Amino acid sequence: MASLVGCELRDGIAIVTIDAPPVNALGQSVRAELLAHIQEIEGRADIRAAVLRCAGRTFVAGADINELGKPPLSPVLPEVLEAIEAARIPWLAAIHGTALGGGLELALACTTRIADNKAKFGLPEVTLGMIPGAGGTVRLPRLIPMSEAVEIVTGGKPVTAPHALAIGLVDRLCETDLLSAAIAFATELAGELKPASLLDRPCRGAEEVDWQGKAVAIRAKARGAEAPMEALDALKENLELPAREALKKERQRFLRMAASEQAAALRYAFFSERNAGRSLTSIDSVPADLWRIGVVGGGTMGAGIATALLLSGSEVRLLERDTAAAEAATARVKDMLDASVARGAVSRDAAGNAIDRFFASPDEAELISCGLVIEAVFEDMDVKRGVFARLDAIMPKDAVLATNTSYLDVNVLAETTINPARVLGLHFFAPAHVMKLLEIVRGRDTGGRALSTGAALAKRLKKTSVVSGVCHGFIGNRIMAAYRRDCEFMLLAGALPAQIDAAMRDFGFAMGIFEVQDLSGLDIAWAQRKNTASARDASLPYSRIADMLCEGGRLGRKTNKGWYDYSSGKKTDDPEVTRIIEEERTSAGVTVHTFTDEQIMNRILGVMQREGQALLSEGIAESASDIDVVMLTGYGFPRHRGGPMYLASHSTDRAEGHQAARD
Ligand code: NAI
Repeated sequence: MASLVGCELRDGIAIVTIDAPPVNALGQSVRAELLAHIQEIEGRADIRAAVLRCAGRTFVAGADINELGKPPLSPVLPEVLEAIEAARIPWLAAIHGTALGGGLELALACTTRIADNKAKFGLPEVTLGMIPGAGGTVRLPRLIPMSEAVEIVTGGKPVTAPHALAIGLVDRLCETDLLSAAIAFATELAGELKPASLLDRPCRGAEEVDWQGKAVAIRAKARGAEAPMEALDALKENLELPAREALKKERQRFLRMAASEQAAALRYAFFSERNAGRSLTSIDSVPADLWRIGVVGGGTMGAGIATALLLSGSEVRLLERDTAAAEAATARVKDMLDASVARGAVSRDAAGNAIDRFFASPDEAELISCGLVIEAVFEDMDVKRGVFARLDAIMPKDAVLATNTSYLDVNVLAETTINPARVLGLHFFAPAHVMKLLEIVRGRDTGGRALSTGAALAKRLKKTSVVSGVCHGFIGNRIMAAYRRDCEFMLLAGALPAQIDAAMRDFGFAMGIFEVQDLSGLDIAWAQRKNTASARDASLPYSRIADMLCEGGRLGRKTNKGWYDYSSGKKTDDPEVTRIIEEERTSAGVTVHTFTDEQIMNRILGVMQREGQALLSEGIAESASDIDVVMLTGYGFPRHRGGPMYLASHSTDRAEGHQAARD
């Protein structure tokens, strides 16, 4: 087998290169080879310093994910790091791409760090339900201020090279030729006294951290995920224990957490996301050119989709009904770009550059040069059919046509075209330039080119895509409609919106279902219910409560009243809603009983799981893990619980609970 770590000597400087594509993960072979090189270099009196670098597109981007959750294989990373730290000569980490997890811990064990000015650094272990296990929580706060270490370790988000330089995480940045700069730096270091190891230095600024306040904020944000709090506790350990003791405690904590249920669920979520949309990669068909993309309709979704496309580098031609609507759409896109700048998601330059590639007008001829057109007009079959008939008439035969419909039948829309093979659904989630999920809806006649275009678009937009067949609401909205309906039955049976929402939040959702409805507006689902009223099975139960709220003008936050009252500026329970619910209970003649929070959640999960099973047996969803990905990335299902389908197959308690709730 080819070696994964090489070493060459230049003027007394050892250049150790890890070359383990694709991301130089620290698998067992890499660790063993690296350790062997460290030991060999240590025995050579002619070597005065070492540069540790990586070949390919990145520095070590983390542990080998295939080893996660399995018993550690020797040599473990802490052993390798100890050898570097104890070395006679200085070691310099030369970083490009991303130094993540074990990669950053490796760099921390080196004497000094130099990086390319586009490099990123992070300890994302908490996102996998763990904490760093090779000194991240002990060495980091001895190199950078503790407050910064708290952000990096508990948040799991990477920091940029300029920020890393400002806080002292790296010693130097370079613009070009990292290797030459590293060799020059290492030569300087070789002539100096080797500084004390980080483990022999005190923590920086630990007394400036409001530990109590941080704990409250982190616990609230984690919503039941344990890793961020464990990460904070691990950092705090440095206040009470000597560094080497803290290292041992960190390792124990890491091993305990790596074996936890939450870590298993988060690993499952990670692999499920990686596998989602994979079925499309085998399609042997050239995707449409995505350099210029058309969008029809510039409301909430059209403007969001346009913003996402612009930020991915495409040019966008947006078609609206008239000039005033085109101007309004332009203003919406500008606002979204400005908000992205304010959020720090994009630079001002990138936003300025994006708007230069945007053009909105009521002239359909502007679309003709687009390889793909995404329709996002009103959720009305006749309006959408009109749009598709026109697109089919004006667009070149090889252009792909997509709809962003939430519920409507993609097959019926495709029938308005001469070539239904070029039609597919691309279901974005609001706000489209922020939300990661994209449901790629495969119609009865959708062809390979349309599907490969959907897959290429998802990749370009860095979205997680899941393939769905055609049904009312596809995967996500169909499941949501089912549990929303069940939550309304629970209102009839004795629960109140605030109790159901609180149970969902306690479970780990960012918001409860009634809070979500108030935020997105009750009118979309209301229109949907009215549209489908004639097809409703009258023998099935129906709750009229939501209809009554809408009839009373309570459409959610936008009208200051929905399931809650917002007229005071904050959300309050509304006795009027309780009165409507109680009236409905009386007229439906139901026996009211109380629900525990656990019963509420068991019922919601049971409905999600049953609907998920139906989606699988009907062939709408390709796998149970795809369903979980949809719920995790599009509907706020708590990631540390894996997803409803994962829970169904991994938790016997819950399964029994569902049975009890159904009975
Ligand atoms: P919206 O009402 O905000 O925007 C619709 C836009 O389409 C309006 O600006 C309107 O002027 C324009 N329009 C209508 N007919 C047109 C035509 N013939 N030609 C050109 N423009 C036309 O609606 P929204 O919320 O953006 O929804 C659009 C679509 O996206 C719907 O199908 C909806 O179900 C779907 N969707 C909505 C989500 C949401 O959270 N709002 C989420 C995912 C999908």
